[in-house]
Amino acid sequence: MPAKIVVGVQWGDEGKGKIIDILASRADVVVRSQGGNNAGHTVESNGETYKLHLVPSGILYPNTTCLIGCGVVIDPQDILREIDGLIQRGIDCNNLKIDPRAHVIMPWHRKLDGLSEAALGGKQIGTTGRGIGPCYMDKAERSGIRMYDLVHESIFREKAAAVGALKNKIITQIYGGEALDVDTIIEEYVGYAKRLAPYLADVSVLTYEAVKQDKEILFEGAQGTLLDLDVGTYPYVTSSHPLSAGCCIGSGVGPTVIDEVIGVAKAYTTRVGAGPFPTELFDEMGDMIRNRGNEFGTTTGRPRRTGWFDAVILRHAVRANGLTALAINKFDTLSGIETLKVCVAYKKPDGTIFTEYPCDIQELEDCTPVYEEVPGFSGDLSKCKTYDELPQECKDYIAYLEKVCGCPIKMVGVGPSRDQNLER
Ligand code: GDP
Ligand code: IMO
Ligand code: MG
Repeated sequence: MPAKIVVGVQWGDEGKGKIIDILASRADVVVRSQGGNNAGHTVESNGETYKLHLVPSGILYPNTTCLIGCGVVIDPQDILREIDGLIQRGIDCNNLKIDPRAHVIMPWHRKLDGLSEAALGGKQIGTTGRGIGPCYMDKAERSGIRMYDLVHESIFREKAAAVGALKNKIITQIYGGEALDVDTIIEEYVGYAKRLAPYLADVSVLTYEAVKQDKEILFEGAQGTLLDLDVGTYPYVTSSHPLSAGCCIGSGVGPTVIDEVIGVAKAYTTRVGAGPFPTELFDEMGDMIRNRGNEFGTTTGRPRRTGWFDAVILRHAVRANGLTALAINKFDTLSGIETLKVCVAYKKPDGTIFTEYPCDIQELEDCTPVYEEVPGFSGDLSKCKTYDELPQECKDYIAYLEKVCGCPIKMVGVGPSRDQNLER
């Protein structure tokens, strides 16, 4: 049985949660490998909506093991709130395991996220404010607190006291902020540690065991390719690697275990947070897509910026992730639009046309999109039960997207629920 990676190929929120939930009906294990509670993955099943942030989207199936790998950053308070919320709704979380190597988001990380954003003035990244960047900074600096530190009380007390004192200096003396009460934080987190200790297990070992037993494994990406720290729109990115390669590092297994890499996209483009977005729409069409597609952030509730489908981004994602297939969601949102635009290249201010995603963010900021126009489609797509039932113009749009992206489109989303996904 194959191991599949599912990654976002735009700026996040492509509907990864839905695709994982659908594929998880046949999977034994679902692994989250990077990011933290900046992610918001929506799963709709039997008329119920679940918004998952850290818990993998396979959790709704009682027999699926859900693993959180060493590359994820864990906010103990938030994950406990999420687990409690799921248990209250009758979802069993005994199959959830967290790698002891995962780093812990502490209150100073959230505080510094806010302070460093404020200090950027007009050049804010527009982070989710969850302390993600500051936590990964400490990880790279080798001063972070890991889950195994958290659950060893004496080690945690010592580390947190030292790190907390240093962070208070940065908060007060560099940013002019108010110091945190480190003693109170330590007591609070010792309490969280007691509740989280039973969930700890070596995710690298568990994942590899599942591989050896020929089990079906899904790696659930968070964020998206253009939010990747290296190949995304730096500095307007997150602080982890949402690419397929990040799934291996962040779960502790090598790339040879992977059989398929599925990229999830929307039939148009959205972005939440700041940074260049060549196909962004500032007109009524943009508002219409936002309202009809309910494009408001799952984690922060912020309105998402909307724009036309960008094939330059998609080709960048096909290459950077080694995609073997695409799952494209939200075709239903575009129904009724007479003519659809698709960006196939970018134009520099001097008129030069280029077709590869630029490395230099300044080039991206200065370029304008080169569009091709495609006839739109109409009708209520959300009721279609098979690919063949789709209007011919919609199938033509899908075939066109497949051609300009250079990757087969295997799944077509026509609504948010499990049964609104058509296999092709
Ligand atoms: P994720 O972060 O990639 O998991 O995506 P989010 O859950 O943040 O955002 C995707 C939104 O689109 C959610 O509200 C989904 O329920 C919804 N969604 C997913 N696929 C479709 C689709 O094909 N059509 C419609 N209308 N909504 C969809
Ligand atoms: P899912 O998994 C969309 C964006 C933030 C901001 C930038 C940095 O639901 O697709 P951070 O808090 O990570 O330091 O913010 O990244 N961002 C996301 N945008 N979907 C996400 O996750 C995101 N996670 C982070 O808006 O622009
Ligand atoms: Mg999301």
